[in-house]
Amino acid sequence: MHDRQTFVVTVRGLTKSYGATSVLKGVDFSVARGEVHALLGGNGAGKSTMIRIITGSAAKDGGEIEFRDAAGNLRAEAEGRRTVTVVHQELALLPHLTVAENIVLPRYSSGLSVFDGKRSVQQAYEALGLIDRDFAACSLHRPVGDLSLHEGQMVEIARALSSGAQLILLDEPTANLTAAETERLFSLLRRLARENGLSVVFVSHRMKEIRQIADICTIIRDGRTVVNRVATSSLSDTAIVEKMGQLAAHAPTGTVSGARRSAPDGEALTIREEGLEMMLPPGTILGVAGAPAGPESLISALVGAAQSKRWSVSFSGWPQRFSSPHQAATLGAGFITGDRSQKGVLRSLPIIDNVMASRRVTRGSRLAGGRENAECFDILQALKVKAASLWDLPDTLSGGTQQKLLLARWLGVPSRLLVLEEPTRGVDIGTKKEIYQLIRDMASSGTIIVWWSTENAELLEVCDRVVAFDTEGRCAGIIDREELSEDRLADLTGMAA
Ligand SMILES: Nc1ncnc2c1ncn2[C@@H]1O[C@H](COP(=O)(O)OP(=O)(O)OP(=O)(O)O)[C@@H](O)[C@H]1O
Ligand SMILES: [Mg+2]
Repeated sequence: MHDRQTFVVTVRGLTKSYGATSVLKGVDFSVARGEVHALLGGNGAGKSTMIRIITGSAAKDGGEIEFRDAAGNLRAEAEGRRTVTVVHQELALLPHLTVAENIVLPRYSSGLSVFDGKRSVQQAYEALGLIDRDFAACSLHRPVGDLSLHEGQMVEIARALSSGAQLILLDEPTANLTAAETERLFSLLRRLARENGLSVVFVSHRMKEIRQIADICTIIRDGRTVVNRVATSSLSDTAIVEKMGQLAAHAPTGTVSGARRSAPDGEALTIREEGLEMMLPPGTILGVAGAPAGPESLISALVGAAQSKRWSVSFSGWPQRFSSPHQAATLGAGFITGDRSQKGVLRSLPIIDNVMASRRVTRGSRLAGGRENAECFDILQALKVKAASLWDLPDTLSGGTQQKLLLARWLGVPSRLLVLEEPTRGVDIGTKKEIYQLIRDMASSGTIIVWWSTENAELLEVCDRVVAFDTEGRCAGIIDREELSEDRLADLTGMAA
Protein backbone atom coordinates (compact mmCIF):
# COMPACT_ATOMS: atom_id res chain seq x y z
CA MET A 1 0.00 0.00 0.00
CA HIS A 2 1.30 3.45 -0.88
CA ASP A 3 -1.14 5.42 1.25
CA ARG A 4 -0.64 5.57 4.96
CA GLN A 5 -4.38 6.10 5.26
CA THR A 6 -7.02 3.82 3.84
CA PHE A 7 -9.86 5.68 2.20
CA VAL A 8 -13.08 3.73 2.58
CA VAL A 9 -14.72 5.91 -0.05
CA THR A 10 -13.26 8.27 -2.62
CA VAL A 11 -15.39 10.46 -4.86
CA ARG A 12 -13.79 12.19 -7.84
CA GLY A 13 -15.28 14.77 -10.18
CA LEU A 14 -18.86 13.84 -9.35
CA THR A 15 -21.51 15.56 -11.49
CA LYS A 16 -25.30 15.54 -11.32
CA SER A 17 -28.07 17.62 -12.91
CA TYR A 18 -31.81 17.71 -12.40
CA GLY A 19 -33.25 18.90 -15.69
CA ALA A 20 -31.53 22.13 -16.59
CA THR A 21 -30.22 22.62 -13.03
CA SER A 22 -26.66 21.50 -12.52
CA VAL A 23 -26.42 20.49 -8.85
CA LEU A 24 -23.00 18.83 -8.59
CA LYS A 25 -20.32 20.29 -10.83
CA GLY A 26 -17.34 18.08 -10.07
CA VAL A 27 -17.25 17.24 -6.37
CA ASP A 28 -14.23 15.56 -4.76
CA PHE A 29 -14.63 13.92 -1.38
CA SER A 30 -12.84 11.17 0.50
CA VAL A 31 -13.23 9.58 3.89
CA ALA A 32 -10.45 7.72 5.70
CA ARG A 33 -10.97 4.68 7.89
CA GLY A 34 -11.67 5.55 11.53
CA GLU A 35 -12.18 9.30 11.07
CA VAL A 36 -15.06 11.60 11.94
CA HIS A 37 -15.49 13.94 9.00
CA ALA A 38 -17.78 17.00 8.82
CA LEU A 39 -19.37 17.66 5.44
CA LEU A 40 -20.27 21.36 5.33
CA GLY A 41 -21.97 23.78 2.98
CA GLY A 42 -24.87 26.21 2.74
CA ASN A 43 -28.46 25.18 1.98
CA GLY A 44 -28.66 23.74 -1.51
CA ALA A 45 -24.88 23.26 -1.86
CA GLY A 46 -25.31 19.60 -2.81
CA LYS A 47 -24.49 17.66 0.39
CA SER A 48 -27.58 15.44 0.48
CA THR A 49 -27.40 14.87 -3.27
CA MET A 50 -23.85 13.57 -2.96
CA ILE A 51 -24.84 11.35 -0.03
CA ARG A 52 -27.72 9.90 -2.07
CA ILE A 53 -25.34 9.09 -4.91
CA ILE A 54 -22.80 7.44 -2.60
CA THR A 55 -25.50 5.19 -1.12
CA GLY A 56 -26.97 4.44 -4.54
CA SER A 57 -30.38 6.03 -4.03
CA ALA A 58 -29.68 8.52 -6.83
CA ALA A 59 -27.67 7.97 -10.03
CA LYS A 60 -24.65 10.05 -10.92
CA ASP A 61 -24.18 11.71 -14.29
CA GLY A 62 -20.38 11.65 -14.28
CA GLY A 63 -17.32 11.13 -12.10
CA GLU A 64 -16.21 8.10 -10.08
CA ILE A 65 -16.83 6.54 -6.70
CA GLU A 66 -14.41 4.03 -5.28
CA PHE A 67 -14.87 1.84 -2.20
CA ARG A 68 -12.03 0.07 -0.39
CA ASP A 69 -11.98 -2.54 2.35
CA ALA A 70 -10.08 -2.27 5.62
CA ALA A 71 -6.93 -3.60 3.98
CA GLY A 72 -7.11 -0.94 1.27
CA ASN A 73 -8.22 -3.26 -1.53
CA LEU A 74 -10.71 -2.01 -4.09
CA ARG A 75 -14.23 -3.40 -3.76
CA ALA A 76 -16.87 -3.80 -6.42
CA GLU A 77 -19.26 -0.83 -6.27
CA ALA A 78 -22.32 -2.85 -5.24
CA GLU A 79 -20.39 -4.66 -2.53
CA GLY A 80 -18.89 -1.37 -1.30
CA ARG A 81 -22.34 0.18 -0.99
CA ARG A 82 -23.41 -2.62 1.33
CA THR A 83 -20.83 -1.40 3.85
CA VAL A 84 -22.36 2.08 3.95
CA THR A 85 -25.36 3.17 5.98
CA VAL A 86 -27.14 6.49 6.20
CA VAL A 87 -29.31 8.53 8.57
CA HIS A 88 -31.34 10.64 6.19
CA GLN A 89 -32.11 14.31 6.67
CA GLU A 90 -35.83 13.49 6.72
CA LEU A 91 -36.76 10.37 8.69
CA ALA A 92 -37.18 7.25 6.60
CA LEU A 93 -39.03 4.82 8.90
CA LEU A 94 -41.91 2.45 8.21
CA PRO A 95 -44.78 3.76 10.36
CA HIS A 96 -46.80 0.52 10.62
CA LEU A 97 -43.90 -1.59 11.80
CA THR A 98 -42.64 -1.64 15.37
CA VAL A 99 -39.52 0.06 16.63
CA ALA A 100 -37.69 -3.28 16.81
CA GLU A 101 -38.72 -4.24 13.28
CA ASN A 102 -37.61 -0.89 11.91
CA ILE A 103 -34.21 -1.28 13.50
CA VAL A 104 -33.42 -4.82 12.40
CA LEU A 105 -35.32 -5.37 9.15
CA PRO A 106 -32.72 -3.81 6.84
CA ARG A 107 -30.33 -6.61 7.86
CA TYR A 108 -32.64 -9.19 6.41
CA SER A 109 -33.24 -7.34 3.17
CA SER A 110 -30.29 -9.04 1.50
CA GLY A 111 -32.23 -12.32 1.83
CA LEU A 112 -29.18 -14.07 3.26
CA SER A 113 -30.53 -14.35 6.80
CA VAL A 114 -33.81 -15.66 8.11
CA PHE A 115 -35.88 -13.31 10.26
CA ASP A 116 -35.82 -14.39 13.89
CA GLY A 117 -38.29 -12.43 16.02
CA LYS A 118 -36.84 -13.01 19.46
CA ARG A 119 -33.26 -12.44 18.50
CA SER A 120 -34.25 -9.32 16.57
CA VAL A 121 -35.90 -7.75 19.56
CA GLN A 122 -32.76 -8.35 21.59
CA GLN A 123 -30.58 -6.84 18.85
CA ALA A 124 -32.86 -3.82 18.58
CA TYR A 125 -32.80 -3.37 22.35
CA GLU A 126 -29.01 -3.35 22.37
CA ALA A 127 -28.79 -0.81 19.53
CA LEU A 128 -31.37 1.58 20.90
CA GLY A 129 -30.02 1.15 24.43
CA LEU A 130 -26.74 2.65 23.27
CA ILE A 131 -28.58 5.94 22.87
CA ASP A 132 -31.28 5.77 25.55
CA ARG A 133 -31.71 2.74 27.79
CA ASP A 134 -35.04 3.83 29.32
CA PHE A 135 -36.58 4.55 25.95
CA ALA A 136 -35.31 1.21 24.61
CA ALA A 137 -36.88 -0.63 27.54
CA CYS A 138 -40.39 0.65 26.88
CA SER A 139 -40.63 1.24 23.15
CA LEU A 140 -39.54 -1.82 21.17
CA HIS A 141 -43.06 -3.05 20.41
CA ARG A 142 -44.66 0.32 19.69
CA PRO A 143 -45.50 1.14 16.08
CA VAL A 144 -43.14 3.80 14.77
CA GLY A 145 -46.11 5.86 13.57
CA ASP A 146 -46.95 6.63 17.23
CA LEU A 147 -43.55 8.07 18.07
CA SER A 148 -42.69 11.73 18.34
CA LEU A 149 -40.24 13.17 15.85
CA HIS A 150 -37.57 13.13 18.48
CA GLU A 151 -38.11 9.44 19.29
CA GLY A 152 -38.15 8.57 15.59
CA GLN A 153 -34.78 10.23 15.20
CA MET A 154 -33.32 7.95 17.87
CA VAL A 155 -34.75 4.87 16.14
CA GLU A 156 -33.24 5.96 12.85
CA ILE A 157 -29.82 6.40 14.44
CA ALA A 158 -30.07 3.05 16.25
CA ARG A 159 -30.84 1.35 12.96
CA ALA A 160 -27.72 2.80 11.38
CA LEU A 161 -25.56 1.91 14.38
CA SER A 162 -26.75 -1.68 14.44
CA SER A 163 -26.17 -2.28 10.76
CA GLY A 164 -22.52 -3.18 11.21
CA ALA A 165 -21.52 -0.72 8.48
CA GLN A 166 -17.98 0.44 7.90
CA LEU A 167 -19.06 3.96 6.92
CA ILE A 168 -21.99 5.83 8.46
CA LEU A 169 -23.34 9.01 6.83
CA LEU A 170 -25.37 11.20 9.20
CA ASP A 171 -27.30 13.97 7.44
CA GLU A 172 -28.17 16.38 10.30
CA PRO A 173 -28.90 13.66 12.86
CA THR A 174 -28.97 15.92 15.89
CA ALA A 175 -31.66 18.35 14.77
CA ASN A 176 -34.30 16.75 17.01
CA LEU A 177 -32.08 15.60 19.83
CA THR A 178 -31.58 17.22 23.21
CA ALA A 179 -28.12 18.34 24.32
CA ALA A 180 -27.67 15.24 26.47
CA GLU A 181 -28.69 12.84 23.71
CA THR A 182 -26.38 14.59 21.27
CA GLU A 183 -23.51 14.26 23.72
CA ARG A 184 -24.22 10.53 24.16
CA LEU A 185 -24.35 10.01 20.41
CA PHE A 186 -21.08 11.86 19.93
CA SER A 187 -19.16 9.89 22.50
CA LEU A 188 -20.51 6.67 21.02
CA LEU A 189 -19.47 7.66 17.49
CA ARG A 190 -16.02 8.70 18.65
CA ARG A 191 -15.57 5.41 20.46
CA LEU A 192 -16.70 3.35 17.44
CA ALA A 193 -14.34 5.33 15.22
CA ARG A 194 -11.39 4.85 17.56
CA GLU A 195 -11.93 1.24 18.57
CA ASN A 196 -13.66 -0.31 15.56
CA GLY A 197 -12.31 1.85 12.74
CA LEU A 198 -15.79 3.10 11.87
CA SER A 199 -15.77 6.10 9.50
CA VAL A 200 -18.33 8.79 10.21
CA VAL A 201 -19.53 11.56 7.92
CA PHE A 202 -21.49 14.19 9.76
CA VAL A 203 -23.59 16.99 8.23
CA SER A 204 -24.63 19.82 10.55
CA HIS A 205 -25.27 23.55 10.50
CA ARG A 206 -24.37 23.88 14.19
CA MET A 207 -20.85 25.18 14.52
CA LYS A 208 -20.48 24.07 18.12
CA GLU A 209 -21.28 20.45 17.25
CA ILE A 210 -19.01 20.44 14.24
CA ARG A 211 -16.11 21.44 16.44
CA GLN A 212 -17.08 18.97 19.17
CA ILE A 213 -17.09 15.94 16.93
CA ALA A 214 -15.18 16.36 13.68
CA ASP A 215 -11.41 16.26 13.20
CA ILE A 216 -11.53 16.79 9.45
CA CYS A 217 -13.87 18.78 7.25
CA THR A 218 -14.80 19.20 3.62
CA ILE A 219 -16.77 22.21 2.41
CA ILE A 220 -18.98 22.14 -0.67
CA ARG A 221 -20.19 25.32 -2.28
CA ASP A 222 -22.55 25.49 -5.19
CA GLY A 223 -21.80 21.93 -6.32
CA ARG A 224 -18.01 22.13 -6.05
CA THR A 225 -15.50 21.16 -3.35
CA VAL A 226 -13.89 24.35 -2.03
CA VAL A 227 -12.14 22.86 1.03
CA ASN A 228 -11.00 19.25 0.82
CA ARG A 229 -9.98 17.27 3.92
CA VAL A 230 -8.71 20.07 6.14
CA ALA A 231 -8.31 19.87 9.93
CA THR A 232 -11.41 21.51 11.43
CA SER A 233 -9.28 23.15 14.13
CA SER A 234 -7.26 25.00 11.48
CA LEU A 235 -10.32 26.96 10.26
CA SER A 236 -11.96 29.76 12.25
CA ASP A 237 -15.75 30.05 12.36
CA THR A 238 -15.50 33.08 10.10
CA ALA A 239 -13.30 31.23 7.62
CA ILE A 240 -15.79 28.35 7.45
CA VAL A 241 -18.72 30.67 6.86
CA GLU A 242 -16.75 32.56 4.22
CA LYS A 243 -15.74 29.37 2.40
CA MET A 244 -19.38 28.36 2.32
CA GLY A 245 -20.01 31.51 0.33
CA GLN A 246 -21.88 33.34 3.03
CA LEU A 247 -21.18 36.90 3.96
CA ALA A 248 -18.57 37.41 6.64
CA ALA A 249 -20.91 39.93 8.22
CA HIS A 250 -23.10 36.98 9.18
CA ALA A 251 -20.39 35.02 10.86
CA PRO A 252 -21.35 33.95 14.35
CA THR A 253 -19.82 36.33 16.83
CA GLY A 254 -20.49 34.37 19.96
CA THR A 255 -21.85 37.50 21.58
CA VAL A 256 -25.38 38.25 22.58
CA SER A 257 -26.60 40.55 19.86
CA GLY A 258 -30.30 40.73 20.68
CA ALA A 259 -30.41 44.08 22.41
CA ARG A 260 -33.68 44.79 24.18
CA ARG A 261 -36.28 46.02 21.79
CA SER A 262 -38.64 48.80 22.73
CA ALA A 263 -41.77 47.10 23.98
CA PRO A 264 -44.95 47.85 22.03
CA ASP A 265 -47.97 48.77 24.16
CA GLY A 266 -50.87 46.43 24.71
CA GLU A 267 -52.34 43.63 26.72
CA ALA A 268 -50.15 40.79 27.98
CA LEU A 269 -50.88 37.15 27.21
CA THR A 270 -51.08 35.15 30.42
CA ILE A 271 -50.20 31.45 30.39
CA ARG A 272 -51.06 29.36 33.47
CA GLU A 273 -50.64 25.93 34.88
CA GLU A 274 -51.01 24.84 38.47
CA GLY A 275 -48.73 27.00 40.61
CA LEU A 276 -47.23 28.86 37.66
CA GLU A 277 -48.18 31.99 35.78
CA MET A 278 -46.30 33.65 32.93
CA MET A 279 -47.24 37.12 31.69
CA LEU A 280 -46.00 37.87 28.20
CA PRO A 281 -46.38 41.52 27.14
CA PRO A 282 -46.61 42.22 23.38
CA GLY A 283 -43.24 41.82 21.71
CA THR A 284 -41.87 39.29 24.20
CA ILE A 285 -39.70 36.50 22.85
CA LEU A 286 -40.10 33.57 25.25
CA GLY A 287 -37.67 30.71 24.76
CA VAL A 288 -38.64 27.15 25.68
CA ALA A 289 -35.91 24.70 26.67
CA GLY A 290 -35.73 21.12 27.84
CA ALA A 291 -36.60 17.52 26.99
CA PRO A 292 -39.67 17.23 24.74
CA ALA A 293 -42.42 16.35 27.26
CA GLY A 294 -42.78 19.82 28.82
CA PRO A 295 -42.39 21.95 25.70
CA GLU A 296 -44.74 19.70 23.73
CA SER A 297 -47.54 20.07 26.27
CA LEU A 298 -47.19 23.86 26.42
CA ILE A 299 -47.04 24.22 22.66
CA SER A 300 -50.00 21.99 21.91
CA ALA A 301 -52.09 24.09 24.29
CA LEU A 302 -50.99 27.32 22.60
CA VAL A 303 -51.83 26.11 19.11
CA GLY A 304 -55.01 24.18 19.89
CA ALA A 305 -53.47 20.83 19.03
CA ALA A 306 -54.47 18.79 22.09
CA GLN A 307 -57.15 18.98 24.76
CA SER A 308 -54.64 19.32 27.57
CA LYS A 309 -56.12 20.36 30.90
CA ARG A 310 -52.73 21.40 32.13
CA TRP A 311 -52.39 24.83 30.54
CA SER A 312 -54.81 27.68 30.14
CA VAL A 313 -54.43 31.18 28.72
CA SER A 314 -56.07 34.54 29.18
CA PHE A 315 -55.99 37.06 26.40
CA SER A 316 -58.86 39.27 25.24
CA GLY A 317 -61.02 37.56 22.65
CA TRP A 318 -59.47 34.14 23.31
CA PRO A 319 -61.03 31.18 25.12
CA GLN A 320 -59.09 29.66 28.03
CA ARG A 321 -58.37 26.67 25.83
CA PHE A 322 -58.50 26.48 22.04
CA SER A 323 -60.85 23.88 20.65
CA SER A 324 -58.84 23.27 17.46
CA PRO A 325 -55.79 24.44 15.51
CA HIS A 326 -58.16 26.21 13.13
CA GLN A 327 -59.65 28.25 15.97
CA ALA A 328 -56.14 29.17 17.15
CA ALA A 329 -55.08 30.28 13.66
CA THR A 330 -58.16 32.39 13.01
CA LEU A 331 -57.76 34.09 16.42
CA GLY A 332 -54.22 35.11 15.51
CA ALA A 333 -52.00 32.31 16.84
CA GLY A 334 -49.51 31.24 14.17
CA PHE A 335 -47.54 28.01 14.39
CA ILE A 336 -44.50 26.62 12.64
CA THR A 337 -44.28 22.91 13.36
CA GLY A 338 -40.97 21.18 14.04
CA ASP A 339 -42.08 18.19 11.94
CA ARG A 340 -41.54 19.74 8.55
CA SER A 341 -41.59 16.58 6.46
CA GLN A 342 -44.75 14.97 7.89
CA LYS A 343 -46.83 17.93 9.06
CA GLY A 344 -45.29 21.12 7.74
CA VAL A 345 -44.49 21.05 4.06
CA LEU A 346 -47.47 20.49 1.75
CA ARG A 347 -45.77 17.96 -0.52
CA SER A 348 -48.27 17.84 -3.34
CA LEU A 349 -48.72 21.60 -3.64
CA PRO A 350 -46.36 24.00 -5.40
CA ILE A 351 -44.00 26.35 -3.59
CA ILE A 352 -46.34 29.34 -3.93
CA ASP A 353 -49.21 27.55 -2.14
CA ASN A 354 -46.84 26.45 0.60
CA VAL A 355 -45.70 30.02 1.20
CA MET A 356 -49.03 31.81 0.84
CA ALA A 357 -51.21 29.34 2.81
CA SER A 358 -51.40 31.22 6.13
CA ARG A 359 -51.78 34.61 4.43
CA ARG A 360 -54.76 33.24 2.52
CA VAL A 361 -56.29 31.92 5.77
CA THR A 362 -55.82 35.14 7.71
CA ARG A 363 -56.95 37.34 4.82
CA GLY A 364 -59.82 35.05 3.94
CA SER A 365 -58.80 35.15 0.28
CA ARG A 366 -55.86 35.15 -2.07
CA LEU A 367 -54.55 38.26 -3.76
CA ALA A 368 -55.51 38.49 -7.39
CA GLY A 369 -53.09 36.97 -9.92
CA GLY A 370 -49.88 38.91 -10.32
CA ARG A 371 -49.94 40.58 -6.91
CA GLU A 372 -49.70 37.28 -5.04
CA ASN A 373 -46.85 36.06 -7.23
CA ALA A 374 -44.96 39.28 -6.63
CA GLU A 375 -45.50 39.06 -2.86
CA CYS A 376 -44.37 35.42 -2.78
CA PHE A 377 -41.29 36.27 -4.79
CA ASP A 378 -40.31 39.06 -2.35
CA ILE A 379 -40.83 36.85 0.70
CA LEU A 380 -38.60 34.12 -0.75
CA GLN A 381 -35.95 36.61 -1.68
CA ALA A 382 -35.77 37.88 1.89
CA LEU A 383 -35.04 34.30 3.00
CA LYS A 384 -32.55 33.71 0.15
CA VAL A 385 -34.59 30.89 -1.38
CA LYS A 386 -33.56 30.21 -4.92
CA ALA A 387 -36.26 28.29 -6.73
CA ALA A 388 -36.39 27.75 -10.47
CA SER A 389 -40.15 28.37 -10.43
CA LEU A 390 -42.84 29.15 -7.84
CA TRP A 391 -44.80 26.24 -9.33
CA ASP A 392 -42.16 23.59 -8.60
CA LEU A 393 -42.95 21.06 -5.88
CA PRO A 394 -41.15 21.41 -2.52
CA ASP A 395 -39.41 18.05 -3.02
CA THR A 396 -37.13 19.69 -5.54
CA LEU A 397 -35.70 21.91 -2.78
CA SER A 398 -32.94 21.00 -0.32
CA GLY A 399 -33.85 20.21 3.31
CA GLY A 400 -32.91 23.60 4.72
CA THR A 401 -34.69 25.35 1.88
CA GLN A 402 -37.90 23.46 2.70
CA GLN A 403 -37.51 24.71 6.27
CA LYS A 404 -37.38 28.26 4.89
CA LEU A 405 -40.70 27.64 3.13
CA LEU A 406 -42.30 26.88 6.49
CA LEU A 407 -40.86 30.06 7.97
CA ALA A 408 -41.98 32.08 4.97
CA ARG A 409 -45.53 30.95 5.63
CA TRP A 410 -45.71 32.88 8.93
CA LEU A 411 -42.91 35.45 8.99
CA GLY A 412 -44.40 38.86 8.34
CA VAL A 413 -48.00 37.71 8.75
CA PRO A 414 -49.67 39.97 11.32
CA SER A 415 -50.43 37.73 14.31
CA ARG A 416 -50.87 38.10 18.06
CA LEU A 417 -48.82 35.04 18.91
CA LEU A 418 -46.33 33.01 16.89
CA VAL A 419 -45.26 29.60 18.19
CA LEU A 420 -42.05 28.19 16.73
CA GLU A 421 -40.73 24.67 17.10
CA GLU A 422 -37.07 24.51 16.17
CA PRO A 423 -37.63 27.03 13.36
CA THR A 424 -34.04 27.12 12.12
CA ARG A 425 -33.61 23.34 11.91
CA GLY A 426 -31.31 22.66 8.98
CA VAL A 427 -31.03 26.32 8.03
CA ASP A 428 -27.46 27.32 7.17
CA ILE A 429 -25.36 29.51 9.42
CA GLY A 430 -25.59 32.62 7.23
CA THR A 431 -29.35 32.58 6.91
CA LYS A 432 -29.96 31.82 10.60
CA LYS A 433 -28.87 35.31 11.56
CA GLU A 434 -31.31 36.81 9.10
CA ILE A 435 -34.12 34.71 10.46
CA TYR A 436 -33.35 35.86 14.00
CA GLN A 437 -33.68 39.43 12.75
CA LEU A 438 -36.97 38.73 10.95
CA ILE A 439 -38.36 37.24 14.15
CA ARG A 440 -37.15 40.19 16.22
CA ASP A 441 -38.87 42.47 13.71
CA MET A 442 -42.13 40.60 14.22
CA ALA A 443 -41.74 40.97 17.98
CA SER A 444 -41.09 44.71 17.57
CA SER A 445 -44.37 45.00 15.74
CA GLY A 446 -46.13 43.48 18.78
CA THR A 447 -46.29 39.75 18.08
CA ILE A 448 -45.59 37.55 21.12
CA ILE A 449 -43.12 34.82 20.19
CA VAL A 450 -42.83 31.42 21.89
CA TRP A 451 -39.74 29.61 20.62
CA TRP A 452 -38.73 26.04 21.41
CA SER A 453 -35.18 25.18 20.47
CA THR A 454 -32.82 22.33 21.35
CA GLU A 455 -29.90 24.63 20.49
CA ASN A 456 -29.19 26.54 23.68
CA ALA A 457 -26.89 29.04 21.96
CA GLU A 458 -29.85 30.12 19.86
CA LEU A 459 -32.08 30.71 22.90
CA LEU A 460 -29.34 32.79 24.47
CA GLU A 461 -29.00 34.92 21.40
CA VAL A 462 -32.64 35.69 20.75
CA CYS A 463 -34.87 35.38 23.81
CA ASP A 464 -35.96 37.87 26.46
CA ARG A 465 -36.82 35.07 28.86
CA VAL A 466 -36.59 31.27 28.82
CA VAL A 467 -38.88 28.76 30.49
CA ALA A 468 -36.95 25.57 31.23
CA PHE A 469 -38.54 22.15 31.69
CA ASP A 470 -36.88 19.21 33.43
CA THR A 471 -36.69 15.70 32.01
CA GLU A 472 -40.03 14.79 33.66
CA GLY A 473 -41.76 17.64 31.83
CA ARG A 474 -42.14 19.87 34.92
CA CYS A 475 -41.36 23.57 34.79
CA ALA A 476 -37.94 23.99 36.41
CA GLY A 477 -37.61 27.76 36.21
CA ILE A 478 -38.09 30.93 34.23
CA ILE A 479 -34.89 32.84 33.54
CA ASP A 480 -34.54 36.44 32.39
CA ARG A 481 -32.14 37.39 29.63
CA GLU A 482 -29.65 38.94 32.09
CA GLU A 483 -29.30 35.66 33.99
CA LEU A 484 -29.26 33.35 30.99
CA SER A 485 -26.27 31.11 30.34
CA GLU A 486 -25.72 27.70 28.78
CA ASP A 487 -24.71 26.30 32.17
CA ARG A 488 -27.84 27.63 33.82
CA LEU A 489 -30.00 26.06 31.12
CA ALA A 490 -28.16 22.75 31.33
CA ASP A 491 -28.63 22.77 35.13
CA LEU A 492 -32.34 23.48 35.09
CA THR A 493 -33.23 21.13 32.25
CA GLY A 494 -31.18 18.34 33.83
CA MET A 495 -29.46 17.91 30.53
CA ALA A 496 -25.92 18.91 31.35
CA ALA A 497 -23.83 17.79 28.41
N1 LIG B 1 -35.33 15.92 -7.08
C1 LIG B 1 -34.82 17.12 -7.39
N2 LIG B 1 -35.25 17.82 -8.46
C2 LIG B 1 -34.73 19.01 -8.76
N3 LIG B 1 -33.79 19.64 -8.03
C3 LIG B 1 -33.31 19.01 -6.96
C4 LIG B 1 -33.80 17.72 -6.57
N4 LIG B 1 -33.13 17.35 -5.45
C5 LIG B 1 -32.28 18.36 -5.16
N5 LIG B 1 -32.38 19.36 -6.06
C6 LIG B 1 -31.60 20.61 -6.07
O1 LIG B 1 -30.25 20.30 -5.82
C7 LIG B 1 -29.61 21.32 -5.05
C8 LIG B 1 -28.82 20.66 -3.94
O2 LIG B 1 -29.71 20.09 -3.00
P1 LIG B 1 -29.21 19.24 -1.74
O3 LIG B 1 -30.43 18.66 -1.13
O4 LIG B 1 -28.14 18.30 -2.16
O5 LIG B 1 -28.60 20.39 -0.84
P2 LIG B 1 -27.96 20.30 0.62
O6 LIG B 1 -26.51 20.72 0.50
O7 LIG B 1 -28.22 18.97 1.22
O8 LIG B 1 -28.74 21.46 1.38
P3 LIG B 1 -29.38 21.52 2.88
O9 LIG B 1 -28.30 22.02 3.79
O10 LIG B 1 -30.45 22.55 2.77
O11 LIG B 1 -29.89 20.17 3.23
C9 LIG B 1 -30.72 22.26 -4.59
O12 LIG B 1 -30.65 23.43 -5.34
C10 LIG B 1 -32.00 21.51 -4.90
O13 LIG B 1 -33.02 22.41 -5.25
MG1 LIG C 1 -29.48 18.33 2.74
